[in-house]
Amino acid sequence: MNPFAYRHGRLYAEGVDLAALADEVGTPCYVYSRAHIEERWHAFDEAFGGREHLVCYALKANSNLAVLEVLARLGSGFDITSVGELERVLAAGGDPTKVVFSGVGKSEPEMRRALEVGIGCFNVESASELDVLNRVAAHLGKQAPLSLRVNPDVDPMTHPYIATGLKQSKFGIDIAQAADVYRRAAGLPNIEVKGVAFHIGSRLDDVAPVVTALERVLDLAGELMDEGVALEHLDMGGGLGIRYADEQPPEPHDYVLALLGALERFGARYQSLRLMIEPGRSVVGNAGVLLTRTLYLKHGAERNFAIVDAAMNDLLRPALYDAWHDIGPVQLRTDKSSTVYDIVGPVCESGDFLGHGRALAIEEGDLLAVASAGAYAATMSSNYNARPRAPEVLVEGDRYCVVRRRETVADLLALESRLPPDP
Ligand code: LLP
Repeated sequence: MNPFAYRHGRLYAEGVDLAALADEVGTPCYVYSRAHIEERWHAFDEAFGGREHLVCYALKANSNLAVLEVLARLGSGFDITSVGELERVLAAGGDPTKVVFSGVGKSEPEMRRALEVGIGCFNVESASELDVLNRVAAHLGKQAPLSLRVNPDVDPMTHPYIATGLKQSKFGIDIAQAADVYRRAAGLPNIEVKGVAFHIGSRLDDVAPVVTALERVLDLAGELMDEGVALEHLDMGGGLGIRYADEQPPEPHDYVLALLGALERFGARYQSLRLMIEPGRSVVGNAGVLLTRTLYLKHGAERNFAIVDAAMNDLLRPALYDAWHDIGPVQLRTDKSSTVYDIVGPVCESGDFLGHGRALAIEEGDLLAVASAGAYAATMSSNYNARPRAPEVLVEGDRYCVVRRRETVADLLALESRLPPDP
């Protein structure tokens, strides 16, 4: 379901008129649909059928507390990448035993906190990290639950900045070295080997590379089981893409079925593994839009610009990855024909654009909705050019709630101090 649809020429989020919302909340602002988030999470959850599993939503896509609470109430697990994300899960009422901790650079204080609250699993990404985790757990008198995140050397066919499962990537432990590291882990007194994990990249529009990665990881799992290393779970990472333009990524159901099919081909000994998956973008990406108002239209000799009040600090993806987001008017005009515009923000960078060459029938003051802004939009936002970050709004039916207020300039100044007087 697309929660964003026009009714009589006005864009709605579920039952909420977005122009009216923008008038009250102001622009720029992010708007999320609760129903869409729930539907996408259930699609993953139900695809596993009777098989023991856990959907661990990847917080980095969108870590707003209300969004996390929606998922926590469904019983979701969470994939975190820092202690800040862990505290967000706890603050939203999430269950720490359903948390997996990914990331190449976990610090000792982060490990300590995660052990204290009893997270479900550390996905360890290097031999050195394994030793540090063992030491930190020993200090606390605890056993650290562990998977190794292995790097299966598979090309996910995605943007190079978000491909993570290739040999030259910083992520994971080379699959050829993984068995040795597992042997070491199994002998460490404060480590409890739980499973094996992989994640090959993001924005995957085809399940084939994930199936290849899974097959390589199952070979490794078989070798480990032969040696008596007990594995309880298999974490298959996240990465399923969404439709930004004309991509045709598989539906969560078909994606999961393809993975289950590969597991079945490998035989009965893998059937008792609890399966985990870490989707982020595919749960929240198309649940959100970024609303922005047109400040000025500038018609040049070579290009026309629509200068809007959202910028690269609110949505970095176009500037960083040359990513394409659909941009449409919030109120359709029948009184104008369209002109081709570059949609740009007020930030002092030529890379500050939200879209290039978009045909739009708009006037100054008109509202625009930038689509697919539920994932990696607010979480990657910044205060560049001393721009306060935009508020986030959660829609539920015909109601909405501001779930993060707009930052003020006072908020930005609050952490800084003036110089002491000169001597
Ligand atoms: N698990 C791990 C270990 C990850 O590194 C990631 C994403 C995920 C799960 C979730 O992936 P997803 O299902 O959302 O694709 N900023 C980029 C995306 C970076 C993804 C990083 N890792 C973007 O805006 O496209």
